[in-house]
Amino acid sequence: MTLAAPARRRKNAPAPDDRPARLLAWYDRHRRALPWRAPPGEVADPYRVWLSEIMLQQTTVKAVGPYFEKFVARWPDVAAMARASLDDVLRMWAGLGYYSRARNLHACAMAVARDHGDVFPDTEDGLRALPGIGPYTAAAIAAIAFDRRTMPVDGNIERVVSRLFAVEEALPQAKPRIQKLAATLLGPSRAGDSAQALMDLGATICTPKKPACSLCPLDDDCAARVRGDQETFPRKAPKKTGVLRRGAAFIVLRGDEILLRTRAAKGLLGGMTEVPGSDWLAAQEDAAALAQAPRINGVMQWHRKAGTVTHVFTHFPLELAVYTARVPPRTRALGGSRWVPIAKLADEALPNVMRKAIAHGLGA
Ligand code: ADE
Repeated sequence: MTLAAPARRRKNAPAPDDRPARLLAWYDRHRRALPWRAPPGEVADPYRVWLSEIMLQQTTVKAVGPYFEKFVARWPDVAAMARASLDDVLRMWAGLGYYSRARNLHACAMAVARDHGDVFPDTEDGLRALPGIGPYTAAAIAAIAFDRRTMPVDGNIERVVSRLFAVEEALPQAKPRIQKLAATLLGPSRAGDSAQALMDLGATICTPKKPACSLCPLDDDCAARVRGDQETFPRKAPKKTGVLRRGAAFIVLRGDEILLRTRAAKGLLGGMTEVPGSDWLAAQEDAAALAQAPRINGVMQWHRKAGTVTHVFTHFPLELAVYTARVPPRTRALGGSRWVPIAKLADEALPNVMRKAIAHGLGA
């Protein structure tokens, strides 16, 4: 009897790619329990996936958790959110930053209710057409909620993939290349889990500093790890930081009430609440900022608080001088402004920069 020779792979033939399967096996054991994720094997609710993805744009998983729970408790589905007022949505959003996301969130809920009978479209193109949903978010929802075979690439996935393939090109130019390489990690099914596996890998193992490579399911495949320079990826083009702008915030107190107003609907912090303030300009002089103080009852006695409040927006850092003044009881608010009890400030759609300015103004 002759024995058949064992099947051998031809020399130099590529190994069958089992990285997608290894990644999913790792995810099944180590996935993070996050409030918007369906239990293993169950289909995710598109509303929860959409809400979490919008909240997670530019904000960490840790910061998003309590906001997500608060939102779904108040608005359990997209129809409920579509019936809410924009003001209520902005108020609930306050503190998460990048407020145009909240305005788009509300606009998107209304569009899904009005144009799609309360049902999210289940394709990337259909999702892209909705307010606030760009290419990344459309791919994330399509993969996670509808199991469409597409790979959303966020910052975590960029880092994992740039290390795995030792991508020398710098971000952001490298994005299309990283997108293509990331798609090679998709298996025939479970696209959403593949994406979330890479996100979790990036968040827990393939971290920016001191990655825990020995725990990584793709350790042996990692081109950067082989060279030992994994921490140097992704390569990045030098960042341009905006020019410092300066301005003044005016805290006007009437007993235990404070004067507030609403910002213009469009633009930075659109539709949010603020204390009266000056323009925010590069190299603005203190005197020029103070000249823009509100005038109630003619002359106001302004006290400048020592120090300044600083805040970094995406495109520029800001430094605010804070002035306080008291006005007598029953003083009328200026047009467009209103008196709000200091004890009720938590209910206001105050962005973080304004919370800092008020805290500074009210501090000892
Ligand atoms: N970041 C963005 N989307 C995410 C998700 N679905 N799970 C974990 N982190 C994320």
